[in-house]
Amino acid sequence: MIFVPTLSHGDVYVRSIRPRDARQLGLQLKRNRSWLEKWEATIPGDSALPAAGTIVRSLLRLARHDQAAPFVIEHQGKVVGQITVSGLSFGSLASGSIGYWISEDVAGRGITPTAVALVADWCFTGLGIHRIEICIRPENESSLRIVRKLGMRYEGLRRRYIHIDGDWRDHFCFAVTIDEVPGGLLARLTRGTANESLADIPEVDRRAVRTPLR
Ligand SMILES: CC(C)(COP(=O)(O)OP(=O)(O)OC[C@H]1O[C@@H](n2cnc3c(N)ncnc32)[C@H](O)[C@@H]1OP(=O)(O)O)[C@@H](O)C(=O)NCCC(=O)NCCS
Repeated sequence: MIFVPTLSHGDVYVRSIRPRDARQLGLQLKRNRSWLEKWEATIPGDSALPAAGTIVRSLLRLARHDQAAPFVIEHQGKVVGQITVSGLSFGSLASGSIGYWISEDVAGRGITPTAVALVADWCFTGLGIHRIEICIRPENESSLRIVRKLGMRYEGLRRRYIHIDGDWRDHFCFAVTIDEVPGGLLARLTRGTANESLADIPEVDRRAVRTPLR
């Protein structure tokens, strides 16, 4: 069982998701339907989106099996989004993948980069993870800003990698290892010393996503 702590910086809190968060998350997901749907993971062959209660139960089940670390994001005391480390692998790989969303009414305040930095630093120092990755659809300019602000390193293009918004979608993948941030991601973010150019995407990959796979 993964013990998910409460982490904070300024007025951004990330804490363990609980069954009673389902109501608030359900309201947020409904209110932010059009904001989120283009970026939401879907199940092939199933057009129905799971209810918030089902999502929370499934995340807690994954945490019980050491496969995920699910958090809610709170801003000024209100649940405003969610961040999860999934695909957790220990031992020789010691890696995990971070996904996130935030309510449209608090977008643009730097909440998500702070939440990612808090969670990634905890993965490195508290969970024994060595590498964190974030995979983003090429069209998601706002999310691509997050990895630039954090100075995550571009690793490459994964074609038709994750089922999002009803189809298999290409993703640009970025990663950071603990060796690259000895002082932690949050310290680097708050100092504004991240090297944004590490997240540059080569033109060849930008061109490739415009070419359908045969
Ligand atoms: C991507 C996302 C998590 C960013 O979170 P955030 O807390 O707003 O992050 P930031 O405040 O650092 O803003 C990131 C960029 O979003 C853009 N942005 C800012 N306000 C915005 C708004 N109201 N609407 C859309 N984009 C906005 C800006 O380009 C900003 O970059 P900048 O700070 O250099 O101007 C958020 O937009 C979101 O939840 N989107 C929908 C779900 C999603 O895309 N999840 C990620 C899948 S990989």
